[in-house]
Amino acid sequence: MGCDWYKDRVFYQIWPRSFKDGSGDGVGDLYGVLEKLDYLKSLGIGGIWFSPLYPSPNADFGYDVSDYCDISPEYGGIDVFRKVLKRAHELDIKVILDLVIAHTSDEHEWFKKSRDKDSPFRDFYFWRRGKAGGKAPNNWSSFFSKGAWSFDPASGEHYLHLHHSKQVDLNMDNPRVREEIKKVMRFWLDMGVDGFREDVITYISKPEDLPDDLFFRAVKGLRFYDCGPKVHEYLQEFRTDVLDHYDCFTVGEAPMISPKKALSFVSGPHPDLDMVFGFKHMEADCFLKEYLPLPFSLRKLKRAFGSWQKALNGRAWNALYLENHDHPRVVSRYGSKRYRKESAKALAACYMLQQGTPFVFQGQELGMGNMPLDDISKYEDCLTKSAYEKGIRFLPKKLVLKIIQRASRDNARTPVQWTGGRNAGFSEAEPWFFVNPDHAKFNAEDEDKDPDSVLNFYRALIRLRTSSDIARDGDYKDLAPLHPRLYMYERRLGERALLVICSFSDRPLKFRLPKEFRGRAAKLVLGNYGGEEPEMTSALRPREVRVYELG
Ligand code: GLC
Repeated sequence: MGCDWYKDRVFYQIWPRSFKDGSGDGVGDLYGVLEKLDYLKSLGIGGIWFSPLYPSPNADFGYDVSDYCDISPEYGGIDVFRKVLKRAHELDIKVILDLVIAHTSDEHEWFKKSRDKDSPFRDFYFWRRGKAGGKAPNNWSSFFSKGAWSFDPASGEHYLHLHHSKQVDLNMDNPRVREEIKKVMRFWLDMGVDGFREDVITYISKPEDLPDDLFFRAVKGLRFYDCGPKVHEYLQEFRTDVLDHYDCFTVGEAPMISPKKALSFVSGPHPDLDMVFGFKHMEADCFLKEYLPLPFSLRKLKRAFGSWQKALNGRAWNALYLENHDHPRVVSRYGSKRYRKESAKALAACYMLQQGTPFVFQGQELGMGNMPLDDISKYEDCLTKSAYEKGIRFLPKKLVLKIIQRASRDNARTPVQWTGGRNAGFSEAEPWFFVNPDHAKFNAEDEDKDPDSVLNFYRALIRLRTSSDIARDGDYKDLAPLHPRLYMYERRLGERALLVICSFSDRPLKFRLPKEFRGRAAKLVLGNYGGEEPEMTSALRPREVRVYELG
């Protein structure tokens, strides 16, 4: 069928555990979502992406699914989900689910059955004999544990898990597995769900003989299971057999992918997916991953954004984001401590006015920041714990904790700050995770009333993004790619343009307006400083952003 309504909408990601507790047990849930749908509408969003809501033992908070066709009782169960879906649709908010099909939980029925060597489910996963001396079948490493293989004494073989040992990789080469996945997709689409965010989707096809990773490729982040031999074939099959029959869209998570490679998934007459999430722009303050920190580089950020904007222009559609549940809060990374509010707003304008569909992660619209914890035992995330264990093999514990404090995914997973009061208004009960003490300053209730808040800036920005054809369709051009503190780009649509001028400095910043803009009639359509409108060419104030429309 193919649709393009997703091009006109801004999506909001809900990581349910920390969004809002409605049942009073300290864990976020769908009752809480029901309460907050009007808030989301007031923000102007047109779609929700739910991180996994399925039953799960929570080794990786839902990304270890034990039943694909149900909603976890922790989140209220399937009837409440139906209510959320109905109410969201009444408000013209689309709903997409996280489709986690690269792996299942080890507590999924399929895996439990596959433990028996003679079971027809054995081939749903990668069960292999080890090498001599009890060694794993190959040298693949895992993101969340030591190696990518675990030995199962009951059946005498190892099973493959690229992530946690409780997240077992599915063998997509088995046609029965693909049929089961299609059933899952239909189950939700028939219920009225509007599409999927597809988890680590570029990892679903492994080369037949599971060859060892080569060191020189692995250090560059290149792995044999990444964009494996049949990934396009399987995604095409899902599209043809299922997705094409519904008015829905898909966005795939594609770790480390280059824009060129991304095109093989999202361009052409019958693309595998509608969009992919790239990662390059999340590396402006690190090498590959947040756990290898570097000083922030605006040039690197602009290069990353620019390469995607250029490569996809006219051929495919971008998925724009600066935050999700896998990355620390952006204001604590690319923003300013001193000018936190200004920088939270400036960052928002910088990414959301590019070409593509913007995604906002819960709390980002409030300017929520990182929350460093003083002891490793206080962290909950499995990646954080495993990174700590790996780190302390080479580095002093204190230093590793410092890196963790900056890099941990838990920074993004603190409860959403609804009020400045008890538990930030997230729950009546003791919350499952620590509340960031800065909720006194950054919370929805106070920000709602303050015309100058980050929240109200997001509202205005989303209004602009969803009402301007230039913001939707204009061509992107970076006007100062080499400048270390200025981000200035245009979006051009015929004779008209939007001009985004943004300072990444904590000091006043002079800049030169490109010739073609000088003396032209320009209207300031958005800015993060109140008061009198400045001259277009006047120096930018610390972390100032100005957006002009030129007719
Ligand atoms: C994706 C998810 C992440 C999860 C991983 C394994 O990267 O976004 O949260 O841990 O896949 O499912």
